[in-house]
Amino acid sequence: MKISVIGAGYVGLTTAACLAQIGHDVFCAESDVGKLNKLQADILPIFEPHLGDVVRVARRRGKLTFGQTEEAIEKSQAIFICVGTPPLANGDADLSAIESLARMIAKSARGYRLVVEKSTVPVQTGSKLRRHLRLHNQHESDYDVVSNPEFLREGSAVEDFLHPDRIVVGVESLRAAELMREIYQPIVNNEFPCPMHSKCPTTSGVRFLCTDTNSAELIKHASNSFLAMKISFINMVANLCEVVGADVGRVSEGMGLDPRIGSSFLNAGLGFGGFCFPKDLQAFIRIAEKSGCDFSLLKEVEKINQSRIEYFVEKIRKELWVLRGKKLAVWGLAFKPNTDDMRYAPSIALVESLLKEGANISAYDPQATEKAKEVLPDVTYCGDPYEAARGAHAILIVTEWSEFRDLDWDRLLSVVEQPLVVDGRNMFRPEEFSSRGFRYLSIGRALTPDTPSAPGETRDGTLDSAIQNITA
Ligand code: UGA
Repeated sequence: MKISVIGAGYVGLTTAACLAQIGHDVFCAESDVGKLNKLQADILPIFEPHLGDVVRVARRRGKLTFGQTEEAIEKSQAIFICVGTPPLANGDADLSAIESLARMIAKSARGYRLVVEKSTVPVQTGSKLRRHLRLHNQHESDYDVVSNPEFLREGSAVEDFLHPDRIVVGVESLRAAELMREIYQPIVNNEFPCPMHSKCPTTSGVRFLCTDTNSAELIKHASNSFLAMKISFINMVANLCEVVGADVGRVSEGMGLDPRIGSSFLNAGLGFGGFCFPKDLQAFIRIAEKSGCDFSLLKEVEKINQSRIEYFVEKIRKELWVLRGKKLAVWGLAFKPNTDDMRYAPSIALVESLLKEGANISAYDPQATEKAKEVLPDVTYCGDPYEAARGAHAILIVTEWSEFRDLDWDRLLSVVEQPLVVDGRNMFRPEEFSSRGFRYLSIGRALTPDTPSAPGETRDGTLDSAIQNITA
């Protein structure tokens, strides 16, 4: 099918490239001239695993073209809207890009258009879009408006697009449902050349769920808010674990074995960031408020998340007493591993807070340094974790990049000023540090080998490893 994708951000570019990968002819429009020039010169403006390869192959095969929005509207029967919906000061999503695009489509499209809303939008945006298209319709064109929320995680967006657990489509006509099914058929049937696996992990089981438009829109906001709630929940459990002497990792493991709960998104730490959870949570709270529902549960989720940074800083303060003049090595700046995205990254609030207290920050991130420099100018950026750790009074693990797992701890011991690791992502088990010469602090785990679990009671690492052996 001939498909246009409007907007070449994370979602748009991944959608365009993957739709081309599964066989469609895709035209991707981008209004930012600098970004468009880069794309036309085969330069990817973001770091996203596999995306570069998929774009290159699609371009070589002539399946993916970049250009202007007007051309995208003329060219294709199906138009995927992937423009940004950033938060306004009051927490509402800014829908101005979608509104002006709707006017453009209504003004220039001739004939039938399937308008697919993929940007994350408040419930009832589809019906407003439908009304707007009718109102400004200049060529007696015919439209279907569909909600097709995306569930792409940064860092694994290509994998998520090509091997999703569900495809949600909110429609108001059979024609729209059939066209959407046709577009996604290669994925539902797993019939496309997979760029990542010679044998794909999923051979069936992708659920193609058709709902009404309002429900599809709600599925997106409700899913992200629910996942955010899981994270804040486990972070509060972590606080409790630290006080009573329990291990949040074991608690979440035990909880996650119940299939009604599930094990994912129960990693305690510095809290959630990125361009999706914080803004979608805010938007969902606003949607509920405007509809007369006080979703106070979600306000608490947000509050807990915001308190994670101060909680972490207090942990560092307790160890170092005074932060003024101390050198702190920050490992990881991106809001999560495998991305260079710094938007709403917990590292920003953390570093700002430490700088405010007079600490000196040297930081290392495998991908996000350039973007971090724009938001955190007063940091010394380093080329590797060792350089960042040189002379440091503490190493702070802020993003759990896998390369931090395989480091030479003897070498680190020889370069730091004080052997202290404060792990904001629970990357390591405390036992791993008993022979490394570092004091190791993490989140929600009081049972380090040298810490009593209760007054008068000691519990050493050997007991824990012995117990591990009889745990099936
Ligand atoms: C999220 C959703 O997972 C996607 O399904 C959705 O499509 C996307 O938002 C979106 O709305 O576009 P993403 O923001 O890329 O994807 O990242 P996640 O992997 O969900 O992580 C979000 C944040 O939660 C990160 O800061 C991560 O460190 C944090 N997190 C995640 C935790 O603190 N604990 C966990 O157990 C899991």
